[in-house]
Amino acid sequence: MAKLTVDHRLSIAPMMGITDRHFRYLMRLISKKVVLYSEMIHARSLVYGNVEKLLRFHPLEKPVVLQLGGDEVDELCRAAELGEKWGYDEINLNCGCPSPRVQAGCFGIMLMHTPKKTGQLIRQLRKATSLPLTVKHRLGSSERHGYEFLSNFAEEMLKAGAQRLIVHARLAFLGNVSPKKNREVPPLDYEQVYRLKEDFPEANIHLNGGVKTYEEISFHLRYVDGVMIGRLAAQNPYFFHEADFRIFSMPVKPKLRREILREYLRYALHEYELTNENPRTLLKPLLVLWHGVPHARLFRRMASENIKRASFQEICHALEQKANDMESAEEISLHPNVRLQ
Ligand SMILES: Cc1cc2nc3c(=O)[nH]c(=O)nc-3n(C[C@H](O)[C@H](O)[C@H](O)COP(=O)(O)O)c2cc1C
Repeated sequence: MAKLTVDHRLSIAPMMGITDRHFRYLMRLISKKVVLYSEMIHARSLVYGNVEKLLRFHPLEKPVVLQLGGDEVDELCRAAELGEKWGYDEINLNCGCPSPRVQAGCFGIMLMHTPKKTGQLIRQLRKATSLPLTVKHRLGSSERHGYEFLSNFAEEMLKAGAQRLIVHARLAFLGNVSPKKNREVPPLDYEQVYRLKEDFPEANIHLNGGVKTYEEISFHLRYVDGVMIGRLAAQNPYFFHEADFRIFSMPVKPKLRREILREYLRYALHEYELTNENPRTLLKPLLVLWHGVPHARLFRRMASENIKRASFQEICHALEQKANDMESAEEISLHPNVRLQ
């Protein structure tokens, strides 16, 4: 079985429409250590679609995990092979997504209902790739739940060779419930995840759902091996500027937003010239970089509204100027123990 080599104490969750390669590049400029996940990619779209478009990423993003969705063994195995070939660090199987489309396709959360079959899937995947294989799932669904159900599913996954279980600590309501509601309405129950770690002490168990502060991260890390964060990263990626120091104990000086911006714009211009990527797609991750800082709205407007009027180079230049102006407004509160290099 492939060895888990990456320090995974803190990771950014897979999020469709958010964690594309540009967002991940921005996150990597903010933190060297947090582990990054792709959006969920359906195995079939990899087998039949534009592999380069779906899998290409910048080496700087590593460590980066490819999350796959699907339930067809052959497609998933081929998709995992492709993930390995393209240099991803791990393959993660989505067993938690409850969207109506996913329910109809019988993957995501539906894989939790058939633990034996899903275990077989993991066994086949293990033959197809030498990368570590991991599973992201929920506590259960509105149809099947309870600690016994959760622990039985976890046991099957571990027996089959899953090397990390990431548990979104709430049920999934089935039926015609929007994914957004399914991330808000079912209550969080962290105790079940802690109990899972207690019952499977050798297993790598990670917790996900509703985590918003470093204090909460540190608290959960007393009971589980890692914490995964989703929406907070999407809303305020700069939250993670202290992660390397506070969670991974690296003696590093966190970067200022404008330093990150400068590096990101260099990347964006290069990508634009190299691939002719849509300027909107390239600038999207920046719209939230100044979350909660004065003038953030003005910055967002500059990055989104000028696109039709100016060249991409002009917009990048204007954004950099604006960031320099905002420098004085930017108050960065370094953690008191940060040792500056
Ligand atoms: C916009 C959005 C898209 C998401 N897409 C995925 C996905 O592709 N795969 C997945 O496993 N979870 C997906 N999720 C769920 C997150 O990975 C995470 O489990 C959930 O948001 C709970 O974590 P949080 O409370 O820290 O946000 C998505 C969440 C959001 C907000």
